[in-house]
Amino acid sequence: MTVALIWAQGNGGVIGRDNTIPWRVPEDARHFRERTTGHPVVMGRRTWDSLPERFRPLPNRMNVVLTADRSWTAEGAVVAHDLADALRRAADADPELTVVMGGAQIYTAALPVADLLIVTEIDVDVPGGDAFAPAIDVTRWRPQNDGEWMTSEKGPRYRFCDYRRIDG
Ligand SMILES: NC(=O)c1ccc[n+]([C@@H]2O[C@H](COP(=O)([O-])OP(=O)(O)OC[C@H]3O[C@@H](n4cnc5c(N)ncnc54)[C@H](OP(=O)(O)O)[C@@H]3O)[C@@H](O)[C@H]2O)c1
Repeated sequence: MTVALIWAQGNGGVIGRDNTIPWRVPEDARHFRERTTGHPVVMGRRTWDSLPERFRPLPNRMNVVLTADRSWTAEGAVVAHDLADALRRAADADPELTVVMGGAQIYTAALPVADLLIVTEIDVDVPGGDAFAPAIDVTRWRPQNDGEWMTSEKGPRYRFCDYRRIDG
């Protein structure tokens, strides 16, 4: 069972501002779709709220949403009240791969149990960014590729890099 975290970060590790993602890079949206489709995704309730209504639940993926609110429900969301429960429900649906898709609170909670980080770096400054990716400790995580910089059709440079946990 692999637990992957997937995120896109701007300069300084920013992942969000005012509960939205403050850039538009269609190549990264495509990458996100390719890496998550067919597998359960786990997200925090704020990230669920941040998705435009027409995009949720994300199709062809079990959408597991974490909240402490026992009365919270949403159509198409599988509700979980702690991370272990969320991961258990996801693993029941797909014993191979679960993808944790944010946001900042959930990345921090899930990092210790993650095997794989799927990271997009976007060369964009985000003044006022208020949500951040966890730091990647290079003594614990090994990059799987060179992460060559590319240029988005929308302008910013971006690159993809996976990191695998170093055993032991
Ligand atoms: N760039 C990216 O790749 C990316 C990806 C995803 C999200 N984002 C951005 O990240 C930001 C949102 O991140 P965030 O940290 O504010 O929120 P979040 O992690 O999406 O959600 C936080 C919520 O999750 C619930 N929660 C957290 N820990 C829990 C636990 N242990 N047990 C049960 N429920 C728990 C709580 O919901 P309740 O309050 O309902 O109890 C909490 O308020 C937004 O700006 C979003 O756009 C960026």
